[in-house]
Amino acid sequence: MVTIKENTLFVTNEALSLIIKVNAYGRLELVHLGRPVDEGDAQSLTVQPALGWGNSVLYEEGDTASCLERLPLFYSEQGRSDYRESPIELLKDGKPFTADFKFFGMEELERAEKSLSGLPFAQDPLSEIKITMKSVAGELTLYHYISVFETALCFRTVLENGGDAVTLTKLASCSVDVPGTYNMDTFGGGWIAEAHRSTALVEQARVVNESAYGFSSAVRNPAVMLSSLGSTEESGNVYGFNLIYSGNHCTSAQRSPQGLTRVVSGINPDSFSKVLENGDFFETPEVAVTFSADGFNGMSRNMHRFVLGHIVPRYWADRSRPIVYNSWEGSGFDFTEGKLVSLARKAQVLGCETFVLDDGWFGARNDDHAGLGDYNVNRKKLPGGIKRLSEKVRALGLGFGLWFEPEGINPDSDLYRKHPEWAMHQEGLKDIYGRNQLLLDLRIPEVRDYIVENVGRIIDEAEISFVKWDMNRQSSLRGAEAHEYILGLYEVLGRIFKVRPHVLLESCSSGGNRFDLGMFCFGPQAWASDDTDPVERLDIQQGFSYFYPQSCISAHVSASPHAQTLRSTPVNMRFNVSAFGVLGYELNLNYIVPTEDKAIKEQIEFYKAHRRALQFGSFRRIKSDEGTVIWQVSSEKEHLLGLFHRLIHAAPGYEYIKAFVPEGTYTVKSRVQTLRVGSFGPLLKHVTPVEFNPNGRVVDIADKNYRMEDAVFTAECSSKALESGIPIMNLFTGTGYSDKIRAQKDFGSNVFVIKRKKDKQEGKEE
Ligand code: DGJ
Repeated sequence: MVTIKENTLFVTNEALSLIIKVNAYGRLELVHLGRPVDEGDAQSLTVQPALGWGNSVLYEEGDTASCLERLPLFYSEQGRSDYRESPIELLKDGKPFTADFKFFGMEELERAEKSLSGLPFAQDPLSEIKITMKSVAGELTLYHYISVFETALCFRTVLENGGDAVTLTKLASCSVDVPGTYNMDTFGGGWIAEAHRSTALVEQARVVNESAYGFSSAVRNPAVMLSSLGSTEESGNVYGFNLIYSGNHCTSAQRSPQGLTRVVSGINPDSFSKVLENGDFFETPEVAVTFSADGFNGMSRNMHRFVLGHIVPRYWADRSRPIVYNSWEGSGFDFTEGKLVSLARKAQVLGCETFVLDDGWFGARNDDHAGLGDYNVNRKKLPGGIKRLSEKVRALGLGFGLWFEPEGINPDSDLYRKHPEWAMHQEGLKDIYGRNQLLLDLRIPEVRDYIVENVGRIIDEAEISFVKWDMNRQSSLRGAEAHEYILGLYEVLGRIFKVRPHVLLESCSSGGNRFDLGMFCFGPQAWASDDTDPVERLDIQQGFSYFYPQSCISAHVSASPHAQTLRSTPVNMRFNVSAFGVLGYELNLNYIVPTEDKAIKEQIEFYKAHRRALQFGSFRRIKSDEGTVIWQVSSEKEHLLGLFHRLIHAAPGYEYIKAFVPEGTYTVKSRVQTLRVGSFGPLLKHVTPVEFNPNGRVVDIADKNYRMEDAVFTAECSSKALESGIPIMNLFTGTGYSDKIRAQKDFGSNVFVIKRKKDKQEGKEE
């Protein structure tokens, strides 16, 4: 709901309210941003500085309360008595320039005004508001756009120059001042360590979350939470900010002496500089903002709903994602058509639905030193080309997917030999490489056309239904040039995928190096990390879960011991963790033993039966400590809990699971799981009538062909008992084996299915 009355804007949706009032000096006072309130509260929520503070500089002589620095403001620039971080910075004739923007007008638009520069924006707002501000001299105009969605608001800003040239060195998407002291939570780490949550207290020193890699980066994802101190997953005031942008970003927070926390979010201003001539404009990306008084889970629910409803392409927003078999971890660069088709056949028998050929199918691509930039098929590996491979895979009833890395170029490629100038070099400096490659300059129209034509042609010729779009190096571009690259990327993605909405685009950048809302506007899911070790994935997937729904998080079962950690984990743990995302497999299927084969078939069957809840159910983090992680997903039909252990300690105590479900009576049942016989070593003698050599042939054969059943838990209870927590069967306590204990070791896990019991009166199951 939006009302504009007497220069006061009131916006409210299911998650938050926003009140902006134009004050006596034409400044935008941010009366409220947070918990939903009533329109009539505008007056009572307005600060009353009255006599102001001793050394304040006054915006208006005589008005002791007119010091801008002391007020909660929306998008307030420095230079006119506000000394806090400025969302806009300009130079005129090389010197800092204060425009002194004042209110000019405010309207609810009849139709949303969308991108002027090719940036992706959240789709289908309920309403869009435009606030116009003009510099005192009248030559510069600032437009603030506020788009309203069910559970979020999006802010973006456009600066237009109608006078002499100015240099823009900073234009944030939004700047808000909210009362209170907060923790800022950010998500990062780096390659194979994405989305690790870290917390910093925001006091008077500024806390900054930023990227200068040219891309959003795995080092610091653009998503940021601001939470009242003591917030938990279920309680506390939590703001979520996330940019719809894939380039250098920056979100900062700082508390003023008056206890107002200013949050500024947008393109990273470091090294940014853009000359705006008369008639030029610059547009920022959108930043999505939400709020919940129900803790981190409440904030996540709002963000997930927003992402599914307004960010991911409409075609895929609600569509089941296929279970993929990806060739990378199993085959790398080493394959032939015969080998791939045989793998595809095995994947199909297991229940996979799409076969994806990863890197290595083009040019001289036998390792990562050559071939990037070329699109000619490597005929030694694939004599019949991609088309014939695709036909063979599709004849098995599978979809066919292909990996591309269109932004990269190896100097050892036909494209580089023909067009060295299409690669980005730094004038006067030696080229620097990441994974032996340079980036193509996506600011050049011919480069964009080359990519669009080649990728588009191959997709159409080979009837490709899934594209993995990879990108494996950081940029050397800085500031406005890095932004122009991102605009080039968005143009390319739009031209390829907006006209082929049925093609499922999975973005990837050495894993989760570009896991952001900008990319999700073009493809509904992203490869979250090259680290597929399930124990590591607990942190990675949980980190991403704060802002991104499970259907955005591509998660595959890979081999054990794991390629990045050398850790051995049960195939159940690998599946159970991946199941809380978009499931796929990428271990070499030629090396799995019969018992794994059976276990994987059962896993896939289970995933298909519960796919709706696992991919699109609402997600909740129930528990997360050093030892145990519990996640819940809920669809209208059912609830699933994933219980994951890291290290087990001797003599474990009782263990409880808890879930939040609507009132009623429920059955709880754990997924039937089996355990590897061989993994019990000499302890096997406790469960077999005769003693076997744990390293002998009999145990080896048994290990490959038979599995032990692990305990299955069943219960019937009320929603209240579930919310309070119910005890499940014990873990192995070192005193013997029985079918009533979970004989799980380190990295053991279970998935529980919780279903509402038949309601006698209604005679139907919910
Ligand atoms: C990096 C990606 O993250 C991997 O999944 C894989 O596609 C490789 N690139 C291929 O080179």
